Amino acid sequence: MADLDVCPFEELPPGAVKIVTDGGLTIGVCNLGGELYALEDRCSHDDGPLCEGDFDLEEGFAVCPRHGAHIDIRTGKALTLPAYLPVDTFTVKAEAGIVKVEVPSRA
Ligand code: FES
Repeated sequence: MADLDVCPFEELPPGAVKIVTDGGLTIGVCNLGGELYALEDRCSHDDGPLCEGDFDLEEGFAVCPRHGAHIDIRTGKALTLPAYLPVDTFTVKAEAGIVKVEVPSRA
C-alpha cells in the first residue's frame, strides 16, 4: 500500500468531498460529520462517476449521477438498484494535517 495525499485537513470540512486520482484510479474522499471516508469514483453498475454526483451526507450515501443508485459512503455497499455490487473503499487518515488515502502500490 502507498499513501496518496488528498489535501490539507482544513480543506475537507464536514459535508465536503474531494476527488483525487492515482494513475487510472479515481477516489472520492468525504467528510461525513467529522469522519473521513473514501470510495472509488466508479459505480459498480456501469462505471458511472459516482463521487461526482449528489451526496446525502445525513444518511451517508452517494447518488450515482448516471442511473441513480445509492451507495453507502462508509462501506461501499450498494443500497439501491440498479447497482447491486459493492464499490471499493479505502482507508483514510490525517497525518501532520494532511488527509491521505491508502491506495494499492503500483509496481
Ligand atoms: S452507473 Fe451508477 S447507477 Fe448506473
